[in-house]
Parts: sequence; structure tokens; C-alpha cells
Amino acid sequence: MPRVLTTVSEIRAALLPYRRAGQRIGLVPTMGALHDGHLSLVRASKAACDVTVVWIYVNPSQFGPHEDLSKYPRTLPADLEKLAGCGAELVMAPGDAEVYRPGHATWIEVGAIAEPLEGRCRPGHFRGVATVVLKLLNMIQADVAFFGQKDYQQAAVIRRMVADLDVPTEIRVCPIVREPDGLAMSSRNVYLSPDARRRATALWQSLELARQLVAGGERDAGSIIRTMTQTLVAAAATIDYVALVDPGSLAAVDPITGPTLAVLAVKIDGTRLIDNALLELPYSSRST
Ligand code: PAF
Repeated sequence: MPRVLTTVSEIRAALLPYRRAGQRIGLVPTMGALHDGHLSLVRASKAACDVTVVWIYVNPSQFGPHEDLSKYPRTLPADLEKLAGCGAELVMAPGDAEVYRPGHATWIEVGAIAEPLEGRCRPGHFRGVATVVLKLLNMIQADVAFFGQKDYQQAAVIRRMVADLDVPTEIRVCPIVREPDGLAMSSRNVYLSPDARRRATALWQSLELARQLVAGGERDAGSIIRTMTQTLVAAAATIDYVALVDPGSLAAVDPITGPTLAVLAVKIDGTRLIDNALLELPYSSRST
């Protein structure tokens, strides 16, 4: 079983021998309720680093007032079993009082990259994410931190913050892990009823359709978005956004002239799910 630590002084003391020995420290930030997507990040850390710390903390400041903070799954004993299975050495599982000490008054606002998409639908979300991520990067001072591409905009916001604030941890983003039917793994998938779970495959189907349309020569973003939307609406999904954006700036693109990110957020029976896919143009049709 990994060793579980709950305070900043404990985790720093536990990491000191590794640091003194010049060993590489890998960090996997999570909110727990671990699935194979998280475990793929742990495996990536194990492959690249000498010791792996998994951060498990359901961060209240990234949830809006009407979001699922109180019902977010908290499954520490099962998480520890899974982490034992892939050899993570340390778990940092702080309580709220350790992360937000009395008088906490410093918040991180990342600029334009945090504004569209999730930033628009979930006001304050990235302020909470950036603040807790900067704190956990400072607490653990890892060489490399591993994030998942499913939260594409989150990874972009974190990269921007780390570059702007000279944080010395390297950020690596690992591919989305999917169920056999294409649904991206997410801790929130446990909320889905069997019927909603079946309909949730529409997210992947709509991204696949976008990929096929682009591969077949379609360059009109509006038309691709309409087709994706129809697929999602047919599954009785409520759409927060469906967008085709520049993978670097996240600005909407139309027409498509280069690599483009298809990105979407929907609710299925009240469960909010996000997904994305990079749409590559055939080499011969790129504009540059
Ligand atoms: O992606 C998550 O699980 C969370 O947003 C993170 C990065 C652990 C911050 O709470």
C-alpha cells in the first residue's frame, strides 16, 4: 500500500531522502475516485520518475455553488488498493484545513486561455483549479506532474500558469483513456444510470463524426458543429458547448485550415461530461 500523508510537513519529510539522493519525483494530481485514466498517469509517472506521489483532494474552490461538491465520490480505501496495484509510493490526501488555512486570501487568475468554454460555463472554476494546483506544485515540488488530456483546457491553463510564474515542475499531458465503447473515463461516470451510460456514447460518436467529416474534406466548422449537435441531441444530451477551436489559443475556428480541437461539454440526465479530440487535416490539405 502507498504511504498516506496529510500535511505539508509530512510530505516534505517523506520526499527529503529521494530529493537528497537526486531522484526524480513524479506527481499525479487527482480528486480521487480513481479510474484507469488516473492509473495511466500513475504508470506514466512510474516510467519517468523514481518516486510517484498521488495527490487526492476534492478541491471545494473549483466547484460552483450548484455543482456536485457534496456528492462527488470519495473512495479513499478503494483508491489506495488501486494505487498499490500500480506501485505508487506516496499519497498526499490533505484535509480542507491543511489546504485552505485560516486567513487564506490568495487566488490565481489565469488570463485569456481560462475564459472560453469551461471558463464561460463554470465561472470561478479555473480560479479554484489554478490556485489548488499552484499550491500542490509548491507543496510537493515534483520534477514532473502528469495531467490528463480529457481536461484539455485545464492542462492549457496549468501550462500557462506554470510558464508565467516560473514554476520549476515540468507538466506532461497524457492521452485520454476510453471505455471500449468510446466513453472517456471520468470519476463522474458513476453517476450515470444504465440508460444514461448507454446514451453517453454519443459524446465519442459526435467527435468521431467530426473526425470523419474533416477527413472527408469538410472545412465548414458550422456544418460540423451542427452534425455533432444533432448526434448529442438525439441522445437527449443538454449542450453546454460544442466547439471547434485552435488547439493552442482555444479560439473558435471557421473554416478549418489546420489542426483543430473538437471540444464539448454536455449534461446527460444532469451529469456533466466533457470530451475532446484533435482533428488532424490530411497533410496535403494544410494551408501552411
Ligand atoms: O483534474 C482534477 O482532478 C482536478 O481539477 C485537479 C487538477 C486535481 C485540481 O483539483
